[in-house]
Amino acid sequence: MTNPVLTIANLTKRFGGVTAVSDINLDVMPKETIAIIGPNGAGKTTFYNMVSGRMQPTEGTITLDGKDITGLPPHKISRLGVSRSFQINNIFPEMTVQENVEVVLSAYHGHSRKLFNIASRNTAIQHEAVGFLKRLGIDSLKAQRAEVISYGDKRLLEIAWCWQRNRSWCFWTSQLPG
Ligand SMILES: Nc1ncnc2c1ncn2[C@@H]1O[C@H](COP(=O)(O)OP(=O)(O)OP(=O)(O)O)[C@@H](O)[C@H]1O
Ligand SMILES: [Mg+2]
Repeated sequence: MTNPVLTIANLTKRFGGVTAVSDINLDVMPKETIAIIGPNGAGKTTFYNMVSGRMQPTEGTITLDGKDITGLPPHKISRLGVSRSFQINNIFPEMTVQENVEVVLSAYHGHSRKLFNIASRNTAIQHEAVGFLKRLGIDSLKAQRAEVISYGDKRLLEIAWCWQRNRSWCFWTSQLPG
C-alpha cells in the first residue's frame, strides 16, 4: 500500500480566544493535488504557516514522508522538500524572468551565495532555467524584467521557484490576496 506523503493529524491553532484552525485531519498521497478553499478568515494561511514552519501549532502533528516535522523551523522544513508561495509576489522585480529562476537554481545547487553575480556564466543553469520556463509556458518572457510581466505570469514564475527549490512539495496560496 502506498503511504501518504503528508499527514496532518488534529492540527489546531489558537490565537488567544480565536481558534483559527480547528482539528484538521488530512492525508495527501504521492502525486495528489489538493486545494484548500474557504472564505476570508477561514484559516488557510494559518494552515500553510504551520505546515511550512512559520507558526507553531497549538495542537496536532504534521508528518512528511514518515518524519514528524511539527514545530521545525522553516529552513529545515524547506530542506525536507516543502515550499510555499505568498499572497503577495516575492520575485526580484529588477531582474529578468530568466535571472529570477537562475538565482533560485544557483542556490539549490549551492553554486553561489552572491545573488547578483548569478549564474550568468553558468550555461547548465541557464539551460535548466529555460527548461522550467518552457514547462510553465512562459519562456517567451525570459528576457523581460520581472516587474513588467502580468500578475498571472508572476504567479507562474513563483511556481517555477517552488518547483526547482524542492521538487517534492509545493504549496501555493490563492491567486489574489483575500
Ligand atoms: N497572528 C494572528 N494573531 C491573531 N489572530 C490571527 C493571526 N493570524 C490569523 N488570525 C486570525 O485567524 C483566523 C484565520 O486567519 P487566516 O489568515 O488564516 O485566514 P485565511 O483563510 O487565510 O483568510 P484570507 O482568505 O483572508 O487570506 C482569522 O480570524 C484571523 O483574524
Ligand atoms: Mg490567507
